[in-house]
Amino acid sequence: MIKKEDLEIKMQSFDLTMTPPAEEPQRQYYYIAKAKKLVQELETRLGRKPTFCVTTFGCQMNARDSEKLSGILEEIGYVDNGSDEKSDFVIYNTCTVRDNANQRVYGRLGALSNYKKKNPQMRIALCGCMMQEETVIAKLKKSYRFVDLIFGTHNIFKFAELVCDMLESEDMIVDIWESTDKIVEDLPIVRKYPFKSGINIMFGCNNFCSYCIVPYVRGRERSRSPEDIIREIEMLVADGVVEIMLLGQNVNSYGKNLDNPISFAQLLQKIEQIEGLERIRFMTSHPKDLSDELIEVMRDSKKICRHLHLPLQSGSTRILEQMNRRYTKEQYLELALKIRREIPDISLTTDIIVGFPGETDADVDDTIDVIRKVGYDNAFTFIYSKRTGTPAAAMENQVPEDVVKRNFNRVLETVQEVSKNRTVVYTGQEVEVLVEEINEHDDSLVTGRMSNNTMVHFKGDASLVGTLQRVYLEECHGFYYTGRSI
Ligand code: 5AD
Ligand code: SF4
Repeated sequence: MIKKEDLEIKMQSFDLTMTPPAEEPQRQYYYIAKAKKLVQELETRLGRKPTFCVTTFGCQMNARDSEKLSGILEEIGYVDNGSDEKSDFVIYNTCTVRDNANQRVYGRLGALSNYKKKNPQMRIALCGCMMQEETVIAKLKKSYRFVDLIFGTHNIFKFAELVCDMLESEDMIVDIWESTDKIVEDLPIVRKYPFKSGINIMFGCNNFCSYCIVPYVRGRERSRSPEDIIREIEMLVADGVVEIMLLGQNVNSYGKNLDNPISFAQLLQKIEQIEGLERIRFMTSHPKDLSDELIEVMRDSKKICRHLHLPLQSGSTRILEQMNRRYTKEQYLELALKIRREIPDISLTTDIIVGFPGETDADVDDTIDVIRKVGYDNAFTFIYSKRTGTPAAAMENQVPEDVVKRNFNRVLETVQEVSKNRTVVYTGQEVEVLVEEINEHDDSLVTGRMSNNTMVHFKGDASLVGTLQRVYLEECHGFYYTGRSI
């Protein structure tokens, strides 16, 4: 992250008739300055400010990437109008973790092609995980020629440069990198919320769970230096942020490959020291790497939120082995129960996949057994989706759809029953809530989150947004509470 004033100073020094610098991020500052000129020309032609809309599919990492895209676009003179069909520049930041995410993108592109016919100056860009797949690129090149710009996950920092190329060309521009060891920092960024922010602490994943496409589309694990992370958080706090979410595919292996190795727990302890920061969240933890050190640091912390997302995927040791998860049912249970023992008020959430190749009813019984024993506060349940190129896609014993559906419903019912019983236990307690917004359905109410991530609605107005409030929890309504300010 870079302060706006510093960026202005850096860009003023560029002579656009010179060749662009080779090193980053200076090269992108040059292209930001150049893009500003091109967008100004576009504004003159249109007689109004050109507009953009970034639509995010998938996880929090993508949401953070979208803030980077918006940061560049606002810097170069586009205005966010929040509606894709009415925008001059439409960007889809895609996900490919399950096939339905891909299908949604193709569906929206189909609709967009009609808008573009009526509005030929419209530009369309696609980026994110789906673009790292060769089959996707081949399909787009063949059947979606109206797309103007396609780039991937490794070169997103080049967005300003790619926008310049796009504005100067009529052809489809495709720039996909197979991998990168680069982490380019200090580019402009806009935040969706003024008071909370995601922060990347690492990129990529080395785990190669056999069903998962992420390591192929996000590349190998790379950690940012603790100094850069702390500096970014300090700047965010100075800018009004009170809650941060540290982002990585597997935060528990953070720092292992740095020149000066540091553990994730040690990083958390450093972040805890930052004055003015109130809450620390993180996502996602792999059970095999979750250390006792981390449990202790969480237990003793005043700022780390009482929430841990600990993906189970399956409760069957046999399936876990096929998934290459590197823990057994018993090891997972031991870990989850240790966490519950050490930090009794923690909320535990998880991800579960139903229908992995070879999964039997007995395997699903094991999953249900773990759900009951851990007593998850919430669980995201997914139907297994075959991802081309992953080892699981080549497994022969894919499970028939009707069996998957039946087992999926069994898991879902258990999750709902268990999580309802968990959430209700806070009724009658006083808790701290970070107010996030005016309630969508009733503007006399505000909506916020407890430290354990449960939503709470209570009487209040816009002046409370972004502040921490003490709230008495009056009534539990399934997965959220209503309460009153005290
Ligand atoms: N099919 C279904 N779910 C998947 N996930 C990852 N890959 C697949 C797949 N091929 C789920 C996992 C992961 C979450 C982000 O998405 O549960 O934790
Ligand atoms: Fe995918 Fe496994 Fe890496 Fe998570 S840890 S991103 S499920 S390979």
